[in-house]
Amino acid sequence: MRVLGIETSCDETGIAIYDSEQGLLGDALYSQVEMHARYGGVIPELASRDHIRKTLPMIRQLMSEKGIEASSINGIAYTAGPGLIGALLVGASLGRSLAMAWDVPAVGVHHMEGHLLAPMLEADPPEFPFVALLVSGGHTQLVAVKGIGEYRLLGESLDDAAGEAFDKVGKMLSLAYPGGPRVAALALKGTAGRFEFPRPMVNRPGLDFSFSGLKTAVRNALSEIVRAQGQLTEQDKADVALAFEEAVVQTLVIKCRRALKESGLKSLVIAGGVSANQRLRANLQSMVEAQRSRLFYAQPRFCTDNGAMIAYAGCQRLLAGQHEGLSIVAHPRWPLESLPAIR
Ligand code: KG4
Ligand code: ZN
Repeated sequence: MRVLGIETSCDETGIAIYDSEQGLLGDALYSQVEMHARYGGVIPELASRDHIRKTLPMIRQLMSEKGIEASSINGIAYTAGPGLIGALLVGASLGRSLAMAWDVPAVGVHHMEGHLLAPMLEADPPEFPFVALLVSGGHTQLVAVKGIGEYRLLGESLDDAAGEAFDKVGKMLSLAYPGGPRVAALALKGTAGRFEFPRPMVNRPGLDFSFSGLKTAVRNALSEIVRAQGQLTEQDKADVALAFEEAVVQTLVIKCRRALKESGLKSLVIAGGVSANQRLRANLQSMVEAQRSRLFYAQPRFCTDNGAMIAYAGCQRLLAGQHEGLSIVAHPRWPLESLPAIR
């Protein structure tokens, strides 16, 4: 089965064609990040309008570049949620309409299921069951995964998502949006041990997270430096970035270790934008080795939002006979656990 995937849930237009026999045939990504950068975050209305401009031309271009005929496409997958409603509706209307025109089924994909399954696109994919840590700009969740659509939420963030905390700290350090990769780059120049921030909720039992206290600790440390010396130097910023990144990473590592122990599972999958973080990958790698477990993640470009993960997840659901009716539906909020299983 050959599936066209469309991702428009936030500020990236992602297109891909995945073939269940031949693998990923091609993908294209357009990021709106420059457009939103001057506002310091995503402006939903601007995002939807830009998806309208980009999506169809990108589909045309990808198909012509790869020499893929519309008649060879057997199904369409679009992100149906969670995300920005206007942005989601662009992909949903376009996906549904193309499916009607090409007379093929269409399926609405859960964005976080897309992230969760993205490591399946790699050469050495994980096998079910596994524990998944989903860490994106909007979600921080630990999930026990028995199979596609068989998800049990083990814990989640009670306030900010990990990526959101990176972005907010980035803003405090006057870095451009999205802050995650920039905070990580700055942290490489940091002096270890100058600051020590709290590892939120690690001493309490359970697998939930909270990052808002850590954010406040960072803000207080920055105000303290400004009070003492009048301004922040580049080195101060790098030192704070490193201490913040270490606090987030160690918190995630502690909770992942606990999730592996409590579930008895031996594979850990990390997915979503923050799973591209090198310090997180390296620290989790050491942890899983000590636990005689294995770590899986997608290549960096498939950690952040992309069309390939949507084409892949949609293809699995279409192969199982699942598809939508004729109505155009998007779910800005959509619990992962409500998805049907594939058997
Ligand atoms: O999965 P994603 O592209 O979009 C959502 O579904 O939210 O995740 C974006 C988030 C942003 O918060 C971004 O700052 C963060 O992932 N991110 C990173 C890194 N790359 C992206 N955070 C830390 N380190 C990175 N290398
Ligand atoms: Zn995402």
